[in-house]
Amino acid sequence: MLSRRRTPLMGWNSWNAFRCYEINEEVILAQAEALVSLGLAEAGFRTVVVDDGCQAVRRDRNGDLQACPRRFPSGMRALGDRLHAMGLQYGLYLAPGRRTCAQYWDAYGWLRWRGAAIAPPAIIRRWAAAGTLPARPAGRDRLEDLGSYGREQKDLDRLVSWGIDLLKYDWCRAERGTDLCEHAGPFADMSALIASADREIHYSISEYGLGEPWRRAPRIAHSWRTTADISRTAESVLTIARETARHAEATGPGRVQDPDMLQVGNLDSATLDRTHLLLWAMLAAPLMIGCDLRGRRHDDPEIVALRDRTVLEIDQDPLVRSARRVDGPEGTDCYRRELEGGHLAVAVVNPQPTPRTVPVPSAAADRRWSTCRVDGAPVDARVGELHLPGYGAALLSTR
Ligand code: GLA
Repeated sequence: MLSRRRTPLMGWNSWNAFRCYEINEEVILAQAEALVSLGLAEAGFRTVVVDDGCQAVRRDRNGDLQACPRRFPSGMRALGDRLHAMGLQYGLYLAPGRRTCAQYWDAYGWLRWRGAAIAPPAIIRRWAAAGTLPARPAGRDRLEDLGSYGREQKDLDRLVSWGIDLLKYDWCRAERGTDLCEHAGPFADMSALIASADREIHYSISEYGLGEPWRRAPRIAHSWRTTADISRTAESVLTIARETARHAEATGPGRVQDPDMLQVGNLDSATLDRTHLLLWAMLAAPLMIGCDLRGRRHDDPEIVALRDRTVLEIDQDPLVRSARRVDGPEGTDCYRRELEGGHLAVAVVNPQPTPRTVPVPSAAADRRWSTCRVDGAPVDARVGELHLPGYGAALLSTR
């Protein structure tokens, strides 16, 4: 059954912090424990997603996916049980083609590096440049079969038996070596399989905005990616926000645009972390933490930012309307979003690394700003000016 959740999902995903390297059951459980001890689970971050790279590089004799025995020796079901016992939810990853993305980009299961069945992209590039990249194994390649092409039901059943509450279904290069030549069909097919599954499952799809998913995905999925993968830079964060806001009208309760997982905690400054989170909240986006939470403290700035109730309440507003870009003070990116009860929120973002002072935009007609904050701290809107630090943002709201 498709999940009945209406507001954007909140949780943690392994990919931005670890790609497919160094994930194992202790690492994942440590993140889950940190979500609880840092107050993030209480703030709403409750779904733990193990992205690509937890599968064994071979299916079992029945053609079923299995947990990587070295890194997840207790198995994926046991991991899900532990998460559920902590009051958390559990998500896993599949791809509709023959291979998963890590098989393409990280040579997952193909190259060996330091004893692991994977090699980091930098190593692959170095080997390729030196001409020492081993040839891909020839013939009907068993390594190609971690994708779900032709066994969608089998793979979904497997994940359901492991206790998932979320499926991330990631296109990758599914058109290669298959007859899946457009995105819509396979994503709709998996949606129908989930609809008849015994568990309530949140369905997050990913084809990077290539097939204009905002046109069809709202009818079949809870969220759809809008762009290529996010990276750890201001430019990536700001560009993805602008791109995503272009299709704001597609967002509504139970169907949101996904500008990708958060890089909060992985960026160069706490200011950029706060701006990034605010932008995602304005877009009514899923908030999936993407940093390694081990060793972080309750009062670390990025953790404080992630628990910021004012921002989280905007993200989780029951109207589930995404911000659009509007004209704002010169040289800024300005986003405007409607909130429940006729309220309004505006974010004014400085897209440059140098500070900038801009006028306070006026609220709608007879309304006044009751919240005015710059870079997370309250300021007086009546002063008429906003002093934005480099990559800093102001939040104005009538609520
Ligand atoms: C793609 C997705 C990422 C991640 C990886 C896994 O790049 O966009 O979010 O799931 O695949 O290989």
